[in-house]
Amino acid sequence: MDPRIEKRLGLKQLVDKVVSADEAAALISDGDVVGMSGFTRAGDAKVVPMALAERAKNEKFKIDIYTGASLGPEVDKYLAEAGAIRKRGPFIGDPGIRNLINSGEVTYVDAHLSHNAELVRQGIIGPIKYLIMEAAAITEDGLIIPTTSVGNSPIFAQYAENIIIELNLSHPESLIGIHDIYVPAQQGEREPIPMTNVKERLGEIGIRVAPEKIKAIVVSEEPDAPSLIVPPDEETQNMANILLDFFRSEIKAGRLTNSLMPLQSGVGSVANAVLDGFADSEFENLVVASEVLQDAVFNLIDAGKVSFAAATSITLSEELQKKVYGNLERYADKLCLRPQEISNHPELIRRLGLISINTALELDIYGNVNSTHVSGTKMMNGIGGSGDFARNARLGIFVTKSYAKGGAISSIVPMVSHVDHTEHDVDVIVTEQGIADLRGLAPKERAALIIENCAHPDFKEQLRDYYNRAVEATGNSQTPHILEEALSWHVNLAKNKTMKKEVTNA
Ligand code: COA
Repeated sequence: MDPRIEKRLGLKQLVDKVVSADEAAALISDGDVVGMSGFTRAGDAKVVPMALAERAKNEKFKIDIYTGASLGPEVDKYLAEAGAIRKRGPFIGDPGIRNLINSGEVTYVDAHLSHNAELVRQGIIGPIKYLIMEAAAITEDGLIIPTTSVGNSPIFAQYAENIIIELNLSHPESLIGIHDIYVPAQQGEREPIPMTNVKERLGEIGIRVAPEKIKAIVVSEEPDAPSLIVPPDEETQNMANILLDFFRSEIKAGRLTNSLMPLQSGVGSVANAVLDGFADSEFENLVVASEVLQDAVFNLIDAGKVSFAAATSITLSEELQKKVYGNLERYADKLCLRPQEISNHPELIRRLGLISINTALELDIYGNVNSTHVSGTKMMNGIGGSGDFARNARLGIFVTKSYAKGGAISSIVPMVSHVDHTEHDVDVIVTEQGIADLRGLAPKERAALIIENCAHPDFKEQLRDYYNRAVEATGNSQTPHILEEALSWHVNLAKNKTMKKEVTNA
């Protein structure tokens, strides 16, 4: 046996389980519910899904796939496009599966990422026939060491009837020790989660499973697909500066200190760019308590700004993958990866007092946020953890550029076409135009701030006009709307490819 495999396969009774990807893929049957490791294109199984995709070219079968979050192209492009996915949850990001969801070929269950584990416990997700999980090693005492994400693998491992391990030799062995696996008991028998500080470790370094559940081990050397974020630009830099000034004013008001509170920052380019803005600031000794660690967090560790970062996954661009995984020892004592049930747990988010920064697709003049549905009907990615964090954070901040698609779309609309985060979950809004601090404000107070501070100049007058007429039409009601007009901006966009009003009247 390859000495590299021998080194990572500590539990010797499993040696005879090593098989090819094709042999492992053959274990999956039509109609199976399959759990998979992986979260934001990190730590996902790769070679077994590709073998399944090959199988699907010659054989008709469909399976339900539940994961931590979005996976790389092996599942969310190739397996999906091979027609082998019936149902998928709880988060996606690949355009391949997005198109299939939006054409009705894949059924998609978009869910809060902290909720999945409870659904598995209750048997709503399941029975899980197989867990296909990427691992960096299996220790002598039978702990499965995850790779660059933990996601839902611990709960899947507990409930799955069978497990296929992809032992990935391309991940550094120094990943061993950065995971902290703690799985709460059933509701009703559960203790409080024993964490009062993000740095505290709660559990074991790997996932404990009954070895007899492991039916196959496949060796892989495929790296994670790199993240697709685009670098910061002038506008995202501006948003970062606005947010930093807001934090300074919170310090002045005595609500925060120079190390703020644990920071959560969402997926995507905008949230990454905003976090990058801390690099040249006076803030220090920052702690990150997020679900995903993107490039910016490692740049901030390098800049000496972040002293510790915990999450459930690490998803990096190609450049940062080389830097971080080529030198993981340097970061290891500042990192911790936990199950998503813990990283996103409402109990901990509230107890630790997180500052949560997530991205909106659009928001309305009263502060309701749409993060998931383009024009109310087409799925973008999913709610991910944004709802877990926004509702329970000490400060729920949403960032977005004030416009999209070259200026044809206003990100601030009279009424959102889909609601992910209600006005009650949204404390602060930041665009490149400015900030609206909505805390303690009534709907009409919010509308004035959002329109004047955050809307793009091209749409301000149009928003003011709608709002003023709505106040008049409703006799100055609590939340003024003209219902027949509230979604007319989206209708205009569908018909005329712009939300600008003059085209509606043309
Ligand atoms: N209407 C239509 N399209 C819009 C839009 C709107 N109001 N606002 C943005 N878009 C488009 C952009 O044009 C861009 O399209 P492109 O890929 O064709 O260029 C795309 O949406 C992404 O927008 P971008 O501004 O680049 O933002 P992003 O990469 O930061 O992603 C979200 C933004 C909202 C899609 C992303 O953050 C997300 O999926 N959030 C939900 C999950 C979440 O918040 N998880 C957080 C916990 S980690």
